Parts: sequence; structure tokens; C-alpha cells
Amino acid sequence: MFSRNIYVARRQRLIKSVKDGILLFLGNSEAPSNYADNQYIFRQDSTWLYYFGIDQPDMAAVIDVESGQETIFGNDVDIDDIIWMGPQPLVASRAEEVGVAGTAPLSELEKVVKAALAKGRKVHFLPPYRYRNMMLLHSLLGIPFDRLKTEASVEFIKAVVEMRLVKEPCEIQQIDIACNLGYAMHMAATQIMKPGMLEQDIVGVMEGVVISGGYMVSFPTILSQNGETLHNHSHHQILTEGRLTVIDAGAEIASHYCSDFTRTLPSGGRFTQQQKEIYTIVSEANNLALGLARPGISYKDVHLAASRLMLQGLKNLGLVKGDVDEAVAAGAAGLFMPHGLGHNMGLDVHDMENLGENYVGYDDTVTRSSQLGLGSLRMARVLKPGNVVTDEPGIYFIPALIDKWKAEGTCKDFIAFDKLDAYRSFGGIRIEDDLLITENGARLLGSKRLPRTVEEVENAMSEE
Ligand code: GLY
Ligand code: MN
Repeated sequence: MFSRNIYVARRQRLIKSVKDGILLFLGNSEAPSNYADNQYIFRQDSTWLYYFGIDQPDMAAVIDVESGQETIFGNDVDIDDIIWMGPQPLVASRAEEVGVAGTAPLSELEKVVKAALAKGRKVHFLPPYRYRNMMLLHSLLGIPFDRLKTEASVEFIKAVVEMRLVKEPCEIQQIDIACNLGYAMHMAATQIMKPGMLEQDIVGVMEGVVISGGYMVSFPTILSQNGETLHNHSHHQILTEGRLTVIDAGAEIASHYCSDFTRTLPSGGRFTQQQKEIYTIVSEANNLALGLARPGISYKDVHLAASRLMLQGLKNLGLVKGDVDEAVAAGAAGLFMPHGLGHNMGLDVHDMENLGENYVGYDDTVTRSSQLGLGSLRMARVLKPGNVVTDEPGIYFIPALIDKWKAEGTCKDFIAFDKLDAYRSFGGIRIEDDLLITENGARLLGSKRLPRTVEEVENAMSEE
């Protein structure tokens, strides 16, 4: 948790961006996995953490925008809780640590919200994503379940997004720590990977590094020799010489700040010539984005520049034809990279995605494309100092997608479909770093960069 004045200043700034009414914040509750007392690891809501810091289940808060009055709602533990969980600080003392003077039992929340509604005041709430909070909002506000997301307060969402998009120095320090743990996680994989091991063996070692050094993985680990499946969570294959393994994994530390790195390793320690050629294009695109990212450029333009570089590289190999700028404009890159270049990262690995991707990654100046790939770009805005984004270009050969485009004639003037037959079992390559936008450029987060070039990767894998 940060110091009290950080949370006080954030809340003071927040209420200046909202005209009137009350702001309703809901923390998360424990979530059962297979029966009530067997729960998933507790994960607090990130916006709650940002404004109130308290990493405990079953809490809510109300800020009265006009009077400035702040109240945290939560129940003190009873003797039964103490027997099972040990003594816990009182809600009032937790609230005091984050500069909130008013506290009340959770049962009081309903009275406060209903009193505001009775006076015709606006109750601002954020889009819920957990069923328990949907039920709570439904019972507090009477809004049908299927309208809870659309009736969330756009004013509140935009105010939160503007603040959380620009990271404070204390947050950057935490993200650097999360990146260092992510680095250790990936290096563990790089150093042990050998043909004959199971993909799951590597997953276990990587997640062990995170659990012993942090809180949990920042998202379910993606590790597969079928890297052409973008989010492949099946880890049952035996590592085989000549194949590539995509590893997309990150760490979440105790403060809940995240990292997210991807590396693509040759399962046997050495790239084939064909793999080197494609790998080099992706690593150059990753480096190009690092060099271009700076305040004033939109991340959509960085995505397009990386796409251009990749299409030029594929043209040099004979897989793409025609004018490269026209190929970019036609969306030909989507065949090879059907995802965006990156996303915001912070307290969530896809930061604030629960508030709505278009509010987070887009604004009045940048609109979402409908093209495959570019249309999945989660962060398209003009960059500002303090933004934290991922830089994750990739090239994948997805047989079903190639067949579909070929049959439909999609981008037929730009894709040499006949040359793609030799790549049908190639898999995919993705390389991801985490960037902080600085005053005049961007820097890599974490103190060391994971091995990235062909030579760096092969050397790191051959070290005993
Ligand atoms: N690291 C997974 C993703 O960015 O979607
Ligand atoms: Mn990512």
C-alpha cells in the first residue's frame, strides 16, 4: 500500500472531474471455485485498490461529490473470523491508513444509496464484471442485470481512466519490480528448456518463480509449441527439436502491479534458417516500436509502422507482394498478426479493460478500425508521459485463416498464398516488452531486457 497522502490526493482529484451526485465504489468478494469455502485466490478490484488501497474482501465506499464526504463500508471481524483467520485490524483503522475518516457497517450502504436516489441524486457506478457485484448493484439501484454495464456512469469511467492511464512515480517503481520478477520467470524457462520436457514442466517452474517472489501470475500462462493459437493454455506437448515455443507470461506482485512479457524460444535451443528469418522480422518490429513510442505519437501509428516493417520483411521473403503501403492500408498485416501491437498495463495486465476498451484505449481523436488485427488494438491513443504499454508484435501462420483468406480472395493482390504452404506447420512468433512513455521517448520497464535477438536467445539457452 502507498502512503495515505497518495490516496487522499487521488480522491480529491477524482471528485473534481465529476459534476455532482455520489460515487459508488465496490470492492471484490471472495469467489468460490468448487464450494463456498474453497476459493480462488482473492483478487481485489483494481480501481478500488487505486483509490482506497485496502486489500480485503467485502468492502464498499461512497464519496459525496458535492460535500466531499467519504465513507468506507465494511464489517469488523467477529470471533468466528478470528478463530479461522486470526486477529484483523478494525475497518476504521484500515480506513484511517488511507485517509478516510468515515466508516460504517456494510449493511448501511443500502440506506446511503437509497437516500441519494430518493433525493433524485445521480449514483455513479463503474461497469461490474463479477456476479456478486452485479447482484448488489441490482438490489441497490433496481437496474436490470442486462443494463448494468450500459447504465454505468460514463463520466465516472472517463475520470478514472484519465487518472489511471498516467502512472505516478510510486506506481512505476512497482511495475519495475513486477517486470524484474517477470524477467526472472522467463529466464528460468530459457535456462531449463530442453527437448523431451513437457510444456507443463516449464509452466510449473515459471509459476513457481512468481509464487515464491510475488503474488500470482498476472494472467494464465500462455506456453505452447502451437504459438499460432494466440492464447494457447494447453501445455501437454513434448518439446521437440525444430519447433518454436511461444511463452507469454507475467507476474503480479503483492501490490498487484503487473508485468507481461513474451518470448519465443526454439524448443531445442537453435533456430532453423526459416525460423530465424521470421523471428528477425518480429524482433525488428518490436525494436522499431520501442524507438517510435514517445509523447505525441498515437499508438495506432506505432502499430501501423510495425505492421509496415513486418509486411516489408515478408515481402523480402516472397510471402507478400505489391506495394507495401497499399498492403498496410488494405489490412494485409492482419493475416499474419491478427492482434494489436499492445495494451495498457498497470494494476491490471490489460489495464482497466473492465471499464471498456474504447474508453481506455481510444478517445475522440482515435477511432477503432474494423480490420482484422488493427481492430483488436487495445491502446490506440496518442501517447503521454507516464503511459505504460506493451510492445508485442507477432507473426503467425494460422492454416484456417490462410485458407479462409485464400478462398475469399482477401488481400489477394498482396499475399503470395502459394508461398505460404511451406509455413503451414511453422506455428507463431511473438515478442513482448513493457514500455514506459517518458518525457521524450520510451524506456523498457524492469532493469534488464530479456534475450531478444536470435543470437541473444541461442546464447542464453546454451548457458549452463
Ligand atoms: N499477455 C496476454 C495478452 O496481452 O493478451
Ligand atoms: Mn500483452
